[in-house]
Amino acid sequence: MSDKQRKILVTSALPYANGPIHMGHMVEYLQTDIWVRFQKLRGHDCTYVCASDSHGTPIMLKARELGVTPKALTEEISADFVRDFSDFGVEFDNYHSTHSKENEQLVGEIYNRLRAAGEIYTRTIEQSYDEKEGIFLPDRFVRGTCPRCKSDDQPGDACEVCGTTNTPESLIDPISVLSGTTPVKRESEHYFFKLSKHQDRLRQWMSEATLDKNVVSKLNEWFDAGLNDWDISRDAPYFGFKIPDTEDKYFYVWLDAPVGYMASFKNLCDRSEHLNFDDYWNKDSDAELYHFIGKDIMYFHTLFWPAVLKGANFRAPTSVFTHGFLTVNGQKMSKSRGTFIKARTYLDNLNPEFLRYYYAAKLGPTIEDIDLNLEDFVARVNADLVGKLINIASRCAGFISKEFDGRLSELLPDAALFSEFSDASDQIAEHFERREYSKAIRQVMALADKANRYIDEKKPWVMIKDEERRSEVQQVCTQGLNMFRSLMIYLSPVNPGVAKDVRHFFNESNWHWDNASIPLLDVSLPKFKPLLTRVDSDQIQRLVEQSQESITVAAAESNDDTISIDDFMKVDLRIARIEKAEAVEGADKLLALTLDVGNSKHSVFAGIKAAYDPETLIGRHVVVVANLAPRKMRFGVSEGMVLATGPGGENIFLLSPDDGAKPGMRVK
Ligand code: 2FM
Ligand code: ZN
Repeated sequence: MSDKQRKILVTSALPYANGPIHMGHMVEYLQTDIWVRFQKLRGHDCTYVCASDSHGTPIMLKARELGVTPKALTEEISADFVRDFSDFGVEFDNYHSTHSKENEQLVGEIYNRLRAAGEIYTRTIEQSYDEKEGIFLPDRFVRGTCPRCKSDDQPGDACEVCGTTNTPESLIDPISVLSGTTPVKRESEHYFFKLSKHQDRLRQWMSEATLDKNVVSKLNEWFDAGLNDWDISRDAPYFGFKIPDTEDKYFYVWLDAPVGYMASFKNLCDRSEHLNFDDYWNKDSDAELYHFIGKDIMYFHTLFWPAVLKGANFRAPTSVFTHGFLTVNGQKMSKSRGTFIKARTYLDNLNPEFLRYYYAAKLGPTIEDIDLNLEDFVARVNADLVGKLINIASRCAGFISKEFDGRLSELLPDAALFSEFSDASDQIAEHFERREYSKAIRQVMALADKANRYIDEKKPWVMIKDEERRSEVQQVCTQGLNMFRSLMIYLSPVNPGVAKDVRHFFNESNWHWDNASIPLLDVSLPKFKPLLTRVDSDQIQRLVEQSQESITVAAAESNDDTISIDDFMKVDLRIARIEKAEAVEGADKLLALTLDVGNSKHSVFAGIKAAYDPETLIGRHVVVVANLAPRKMRFGVSEGMVLATGPGGENIFLLSPDDGAKPGMRVK
């Protein structure tokens, strides 16, 4: 039985309204939607709000590039978001925007409260400034050579090659990505929030918020390193809210974004009969507040946000539920592989219920990444969802409608078996509550196996031939359909679309979790319509092709995923002869090679130790990128790259030119 009614407010991270929703985003919205639907099904007063994150420099610049106002841009993109979410069955109680009057009012109020409490101070800082564009540059808008590994064209926050944390100031030869000019340093007064003051309170919050252990260890790392005060202002031009009593200072997007959770809820409360804003946000609120987020934005939600809320005398979140990233076929989503799949492209090709099922079957409560393996997706959906679960109904419903005029029997022939389905209720509920969706799905599928075995044993298709056993067929199929109905109730947070059709088939106007424990008997059912058809691998292929297509066009336009023939021609590929090859002390994978490239010698570190005995390499010809800028590695400087193929480890195969190859020859 469900416990006493809880008041719960749930949010998903607010998506930036400057690009499309993709499969990676959907992990979070589906994870949250499943949890919210589950709570509602249990009878709790659960409210789910979200909004578009509409502020910040990237949005402002994108709008500028398109020649529209940021407001118009974000409104148009938000309309797409709303369609995508709704078509995936994500059912927000409210979807709003951070660029709203409620948000402006709340951010102002929070800021004023913080200021009155002495939590805000100003300090003059130096920042990169693009004189040509007349704008202070966010770190990612400055690119240059990494001071550590000397890789070119690295962003001003973290080097994408060696991972070092850089600043725009620490880059060698920095340029502004906006104008291509060299940024200058310029001073400006900024507003800071005293995060450092909140260390103890945050530790206390962390111990109460039942966070995933990996989140706790990350937080402890941050506490140990010491918390820095937080710069909450940005200079004009900026798309955001102006800081009260200033001329040209704006709130940093990350200050007003989480306030957007409150603003969306406020906007809902103002239209609602029963929801009261203060009941949820007051310091002593007894409502529960949960934020679902990805692991990349933990710092904002587990440090800044609770500290800002507490500092402004509001309540802090009950917990923050953090998930990992999505990989597709085991790798980062890739535009060129066609695995950077937009929500809309998926919807154009496949039933959203399939993805909901697949993600649920993979999701747990930790920050571990989840993989969308497209082959496995087809196999699981077909074998489990369609082949096992839906199949129970397909095997029984036909007999009931054809032979018994749609009437279910008055009793269940195997009450003990049905009890196994109703007794599972608490445990399955516990799995959903703890966000152990994969466990919930496993348990549902184990019961589906049982239901199928029961039908296999009873063989209604044989019994029906025997006139004397007709009523037995009605009972067996009633038993089968009731087991199916209970499982569909359990699964309805995951598959609301299928569940709705099933509920209609059972002629029921709504479902509560506890209905799964009470069989439906002696009622007439309408004609059964097929619920789901199997996924076809062709659909997947089309999905990948379309993802590739749409991206190729985009990449060609934005020129960020392809290189031109001119770029390719810059790569100087040469034949080299390996003169020396030896292991590198302290390096597990590397061999140090000395290469003869005709008129020069190159020292190169190659990660081929597991695949080649150094002795066997001496005298061998290989292909080398001869004009790669020297790179400083931990063990010395590497002056080129040897070309090889293969998945890695022992399976690396050096490209071997023909016998006629001579060191220094150009490879074309
Ligand atoms: O990382 C992001 O996509 C942000 N737009 C999330 C904001 S969540 C909340 F704080 F608003
Ligand atoms: Zn680097």
